[in-house]
Amino acid sequence: MDLADLTRDLDTLRDETLAAVAAAPDAAALDALELDVLGKKGRLTGILRGIGALAPEDRPKVGAIANVVRVKLETALAERGTTLRGGELTARLAAEAVDVTLPGRPLRRGSLHPSIEAMSEIAAIFEQFGFVTYESPEIEDDVTNFQMLNIPPDHPARDLWDTLYVDVEGRLLRTHTSPGQIHVMRTETPPIRALLPGRCYRYESIDASHASEFFQVEGLMVDEGTTMADLKGLLDQFAKAMFGSDKRTRFRPGYYPFTEPSVAFDVECLVCGGGGCPACGRTGWMTILGAGMVHPVVLQYGGLDPERYQGFAFGMGPERIKMLKHGITDLRLFLDDDLRFLEQFR
Ligand code: PHE
Repeated sequence: MDLADLTRDLDTLRDETLAAVAAAPDAAALDALELDVLGKKGRLTGILRGIGALAPEDRPKVGAIANVVRVKLETALAERGTTLRGGELTARLAAEAVDVTLPGRPLRRGSLHPSIEAMSEIAAIFEQFGFVTYESPEIEDDVTNFQMLNIPPDHPARDLWDTLYVDVEGRLLRTHTSPGQIHVMRTETPPIRALLPGRCYRYESIDASHASEFFQVEGLMVDEGTTMADLKGLLDQFAKAMFGSDKRTRFRPGYYPFTEPSVAFDVECLVCGGGGCPACGRTGWMTILGAGMVHPVVLQYGGLDPERYQGFAFGMGPERIKMLKHGITDLRLFLDDDLRFLEQFR
């Protein structure tokens, strides 16, 4: 092995590699070629190993030639690489092209169920008066659902709430949200301004205005010196915010065992404006909720001193509010899961 041999080998390597570079079909072949020739264990290194056998004055000469070859090959590889990769990119862009003019697949927009929507509308109004929303269990016991609300066992008032019982002795599905009053009174100290929305259950024969499952929103205010005038003013403001600021309202005597006095709260008929029509039973008024001053016995069961505190409570059906507002005549629509109905509340 002498200088001439090595120089020839380098020339051969250069010529062969340049030919192979020109012939490389794709970037992967080019990468393999580069590794094979210029890699750590590649052919160029292999040739240069022969340098050790040369006379010392010849070694730098071979080194210089080898460098020229290396640079030449590197340049050729890089140039061919740019060409190949550019072509590949163009091909990929063409193959994977997205037609941005195609119409997209529309996402179906969901919406709140009208019962839920009604409850948040109600809550939004009462929040402005400082009411805070609480949660209360759907499975109650007889004591909280009835007895602490001044409805003893076998009391005829129980007929107002046909009850669904669960398999555990003394437990039932709450028939109204009023037991929430007891829970709030027992955990909070007055002043109390509580809103208790939630699902209620009754053993009803189902018709257009009765369901065995429905929502209620309960309200409770307890403080020193709370009066019926506060209740009247609050409910009047509520009705005006919900149905329109020009709507007249009225209180009628009512009966609930847990409030005394008790009232029914009416708003001027939204259909006839008070003149009398079939929608309001020709009375000109629509009843939207029941209410009253919290019975002293109920305050006591709630752990509060009725000599010191007074309160009022009200309970309304959000479905009924929606029905009045939108002229819906069948409560069952709220439970049917029929999208033709539900999609109208967007
Ligand atoms: N709980 C009563 C009902 O189910 C409504 C109500 C609540 C009445 C609070 C007065 C006070 O009909």
